[in-house]
Amino acid sequence: MARLIDGREVSASVKRRVADEVAELNKNGIEVGLAVIIVGNNPASRTYVNNKKKACAEAGINSYEYALPEDTTTDELLSLIRELNRDSKINGILCQLPLPEGLDEKKVIETISPEKDVDAFHAVNTGHIMIGDYTFLPCTPAGITEMLDYYNIDVEGKHCVVIGRSNIVGKPMAMLLLKRNGTVTVCHSKTVDLAGYTRQADILVAAIGKPYFVTADMVKDGAVVIDVGMNRNAEGKLCGDVDFAEVEKKASFITPVPGGVGPMTIATLLKNTVTAAKRQNSTD
Ligand code: GUN
Repeated sequence: MARLIDGREVSASVKRRVADEVAELNKNGIEVGLAVIIVGNNPASRTYVNNKKKACAEAGINSYEYALPEDTTTDELLSLIRELNRDSKINGILCQLPLPEGLDEKKVIETISPEKDVDAFHAVNTGHIMIGDYTFLPCTPAGITEMLDYYNIDVEGKHCVVIGRSNIVGKPMAMLLLKRNGTVTVCHSKTVDLAGYTRQADILVAAIGKPYFVTADMVKDGAVVIDVGMNRNAEGKLCGDVDFAEVEKKASFITPVPGGVGPMTIATLLKNTVTAAKRQNSTD
């Protein structure tokens, strides 16, 4: 039976450290501010944004919500972002994805100042991640490595299989595992014989977006299984990409959904926001 990786416990410890750092900055007269932009009425995005704002409040970070209607144009959104880029009370800017259809996500990401890009989505920051030189950590992958550290799970020399090649999770996850000397395989929807790869994984990261996709027969005995999925099952209940009930019998460690990776993404966002505030207030 696998040991549970408790994302709530790990994120609470990260958040305590962040709150201490914010308190220290406040003592020196520095406030920390995060702009949170949400466009349209996607209910999942609304939940994520509310969770992010709540976490900011708990850490002493000022969050400023900009809720824009579904019919917002790309130009309107870009002009808000340019204004926030200039606003000194805003240290970080987050635009919740996905955007409503028709909005130019690429332009939006490229308009956020790299200095305020606390999601680490801008090409400048993804470039830093590629060369292993970090300013902002990619939120979900960095949250995952934080969990591995907390449970003393070593990556060096391990075969790490990442399912999913998104810019938000799969690609930066591969880079972070590589930086820790893992041997990394990235699988995706066109991979032939996916299970042949996943069965070789010492560390398996599932970021597919399909409920219960990873079944027990796809997992090696003793593997560490990280579930990035945030899906709704047929009953409308939140569930991951991994068939938790069966896979936990084989894995050595496993993350639950909810309460695994999700809280860690937010913890990294808070860390990045404090990093941004420190850099913007630094005299060197
Ligand atoms: N949508 C899903 N995950 C994320 C994230 O980490 N940041 C933003 N901005 N949008 C998301």
